[in-house]
Amino acid sequence: MPASPRFLPDRMTEIGILRPGGPEVLVPRQVPVPEPGPGQVLVRVAAAGVNRPDVLQRRGLYPMPPGVTPVPGLEVAGEVVALGEGVGVGEGGGAGEAAGVRLGDAVCGLTDGGGYAEFCLVPAAQLLPVPPGFSLEQAAALPETFFTVWANLFMMGRAKAGESLLVHGGTSGIGSTALMLAREFGLRAISTDGGPEKGEAARGFGAERSIDHRSQDFLPEAMAWSEGRGVDLVLDILGASAFERNLQVLRRDGRLLLIGFMGGDRVGEFSLTPILLKRLVVTGSTLRGRTPDEKAAIARELRQHLGPVWSAGRCVPHVHEVWPLDQAAQAHRVMESRAHVGKIVLRT
Ligand SMILES: NC(=O)c1ccc[n+]([C@@H]2O[C@H](COP(=O)([O-])OP(=O)(O)OC[C@H]3O[C@@H](n4cnc5c(N)ncnc54)[C@H](OP(=O)(O)O)[C@@H]3O)[C@@H](O)[C@H]2O)c1
Repeated sequence: MPASPRFLPDRMTEIGILRPGGPEVLVPRQVPVPEPGPGQVLVRVAAAGVNRPDVLQRRGLYPMPPGVTPVPGLEVAGEVVALGEGVGVGEGGGAGEAAGVRLGDAVCGLTDGGGYAEFCLVPAAQLLPVPPGFSLEQAAALPETFFTVWANLFMMGRAKAGESLLVHGGTSGIGSTALMLAREFGLRAISTDGGPEKGEAARGFGAERSIDHRSQDFLPEAMAWSEGRGVDLVLDILGASAFERNLQVLRRDGRLLLIGFMGGDRVGEFSLTPILLKRLVVTGSTLRGRTPDEKAAIARELRQHLGPVWSAGRCVPHVHEVWPLDQAAQAHRVMESRAHVGKIVLRT
């Protein structure tokens, strides 16, 4: 039986997607509060992060993993209000990944969906404590991009201090996280950004240089910045529109990490030769498609490597704007206008 406190409402507000479409298809509705299953906790959501994959999901363009809730929302912060079987200590539950989770804990977590709601089920192994000094909005803005960037750049891409990194979209949720992590872990970074204001923000996150993708070609600019050597890593959200130049900008043993296709997912003719000549690694991943064990492993690494950093007040997500949960449509409009820097957050 799940352990839960006595006073939980029966029903809650969540944001449903009426049908694939524009922001207006995001509508609040009343539904029963879910009960945690084995390995899950129920979080009373204080804040939920908005991510570009939510926009793709709303438009019907995101390949959903089987069996997950169709309610959007990949990250939340709030209070643990019920524990599923096998979760927690002192509740007759098990230890392992979920040991230490208690009713009343302030947590943030990577969900499997359903974050746009007053209550959300989260696998206990995907929880992180709210770092000291973080607001709940900042904590809610943390999981999706830190899990994604850490897994790609450091676990798959084996990024290490002294290497160089090109980040496309340096002021996106993803890009701002990548630049902060690069600075924290001793990489030199450069970013592509839409205009001088975004460029300034990207430099604030940790880019040594910003390339204005509206007026400059990143290939010659990045080659000049690296004194002709090229970069060790590219974290790419663009896909097709940058693919061939990404191969060209990488130096020997470089790694191209594809995580988004804002510039399309179909590439025309391109030369494979740089991959052979420079021994390049081209890879990609989606966070959502990872197994629970893989997500738990990323969470462990974040607790170990980022826990002390967050506690010291570094690598804090930049929250651009906070919208009430029932105005999720407006939050999506802001994201699609590309006016934001960093993260957009919903508040219950
Ligand atoms: N694979 C995964 O696991 C995973 C997880 C999370 C997110 N993602 C992907 O990562 C991407 C970013 O997500 P997000 O939530 O961080 O979104 P976001 O904050 O809305 O950022 C989107 C960014 O795309 C940039 N952009 C668009 N066209 C560009 C171009 N031609 N050159 C350079 N930048 C360009 C925009 O920069 P400007 O406004 O400066 O032009 C903006 O910063 C999305 O494609 C998303 O699907 C992947």
